[in-house]
Parts: sequence; C-alpha cells; structure tokens
Amino acid sequence: MKEFKKLSFIALALGLVLIGCDNPKQKKTANKQQTAQSGEGYELFKTNCYACHNPNTESHDAIIAPPMIAVKKRYSMQHQTKEAFVKAVVAWASNPTAEKALMKGAVTRFKVMPKQAFKTADLEKIASYIYDNNIEVPSWFAAHEKQMHGKGGKGMMQMNHNKK
Ligand code: HEC
Repeated sequence: MKEFKKLSFIALALGLVLIGCDNPKQKKTANKQQTAQSGEGYELFKTNCYACHNPNTESHDAIIAPPMIAVKKRYSMQHQTKEAFVKAVVAWASNPTAEKALMKGAVTRFKVMPKQAFKTADLEKIASYIYDNNIEVPSWFAAHEKQMHGKGGKGMMQMNHNKK
C-alpha cells in the first residue's frame, strides 16, 4: 500500500511536469508573413489587373486602361496615407462608377472601368502592394507623360493646340 502511494505520487508529479511542457508559447511569424505577402500581392495584382493595366504594352495606343503607375500617382495626390490610399483603391475596384472617378480623362478615353467580382481581401493586398512597392512602368510612359501632361497640368491644353 505504501509502495502504491509512492508510485501514484510520482505519477502525479510526472503528469504535472508533462502538462507544464505541453503548452509552449507560440512564436509569432509576422515578419515572415509580411515578406510572403508582398509576393502574393504582386501575383494577385498581375492576375487581376494586368489584363487591362498592363505595363508590358508596346505603346500608349496598345494599352486599354491607364498604366497603374499613372493611377498610383493620381491616387497618391488625393490620398496621402497608405490607409487612405488602400481604402480608395479598394472602394474603387469594388464598384467603379464614372461619378466617383478621379481620372476623368481616362474615363473619356477608355470608358469607365468594368465592374468585376474582386475579393475585398485580394484588393487590399493588391492596393498595399501598389502603395509599398515600385511597380512596373511601361517603357513609353515617361515620354507620354511629358507630352500629354506636361508641367503644371497644362499638358491637355497643349495637346489640344497641337491637334488644331
Ligand atoms: C477589364 C479591364 C480592367 C481591369 C481588369 C482592371 N481595370 Fe482598373 N481601370 C480600367 C479602365 C478602362 C480604367 C480607366 C477609366 C476609369 O478611370 O474608370 C481603370 C481605372 C482604374 C483606377 C482609377 C479610377 C479613377 O478614379 O478614375 C483604379 C484605381 C483602378 N483602375 C484599379 C484597378 C485594380 C486595382 C485592378 C485589379 C484588381 C483593376 N483596376 C483592373 C480597366 C480595368
């Protein structure tokens, strides 16, 4: 009987030790996730947006939507913080309407962006990616920007003059 008590005490002690070990603190992997997410953001961006906002076009005539670098510039002017930028891009892509458009010239040229069933979570990743990274720029973009949009926003007027 005495032996048995001793044994059960040992068993109990062992059990307590095991329980104590059973709950290791989970290490947070936030940093790793962030790195992976920028890759994911890029992939989502390419898959969902490049069909129209494709930087790998030959010329301005070949693209069917403004290059995303132009969108980024326009949206950054309006929305200074990342939070506001992401919110605006997500809101736009969730439900694009001509009235809401900041890029009226693009709406005239390309017609308003067609509404598509994007996932909000995907759009948030895409918008963060666009905000955080140097995105791809079409080879013709610099020349086009100089010609069309000139200095001090007079580009469109210059273009009209040139047309005659
Ligand atoms: C089917 C073609 C198409 C796809 C796909 C597309 N866009 Fe667009 N997008 C357009 C066109 C055309 C415009 C220019 C006219 C306009 O502003 O509505 C535009 C304009 C925009 C603008 C500027 C809107 C404004 O204020 O005028 C944003 C922001 C934008 N797109 C984000 C996105 C994002 C993000 C994706 C991917 C999730 C995407 N677009 C996918 C065609 C597309």
